[in-house]
Amino acid sequence: MTATVDPRREGPGGEGIAVAAERRWAIVVAAIIVVLLATMVFTGVHWAAMPPSRVETIDPRTLHVTGEFVESNLGTGIGPDGKVVVRLIAQQYSFEPQCIVVPSEMPVTFRGTSTDSIHGFVIGATNANVMLVPGFVATFTTTFKSNGERLMPCHEYCGTGHGAMWARVQVIAPEAFLARTSGGRKATCVPG
Ligand code: CUA
Repeated sequence: MTATVDPRREGPGGEGIAVAAERRWAIVVAAIIVVLLATMVFTGVHWAAMPPSRVETIDPRTLHVTGEFVESNLGTGIGPDGKVVVRLIAQQYSFEPQCIVVPSEMPVTFRGTSTDSIHGFVIGATNANVMLVPGFVATFTTTFKSNGERLMPCHEYCGTGHGAMWARVQVIAPEAFLARTSGGRKATCVPG
């Protein structure tokens, strides 16, 4: 009878096997770390670590004086292509405009940015949810399914007044909306 001796089975308790297993697991863990680091570097460089919409940049210092986000251009309007566009800015601690009118059952595109710190908003009971980052224009398009008034709170902590930072959204019937914006007017909220 010849006893075959496993060369890895050094020592009385088979420490050789344990050492080999530990080495294998160390390689697996190191590989996971390398993959995670590579993912971070790739997304950071390739996508430039921008907000999710990452489409356009804007100079927050001149927002109020020139370009798309001057006060007279904020609010809801119908563009030359017939699309409904809401333009808004966020600042500590309010949204401008404070009340937004949109039609139901029509695609509505939001374009927003911030003048100071990071803000964001959600519109109650819809999928509208975006971050507003200084220097970037956030855009998204959504369709409101039903009429009514909804709250639009800031959902990124932006300072001591964060809890009081919110706007209102009035969703109205498409016919009423089109009547209110006829002649290229901006839609404005009715009191109440
Ligand atoms: Cu603005 Cu929180």
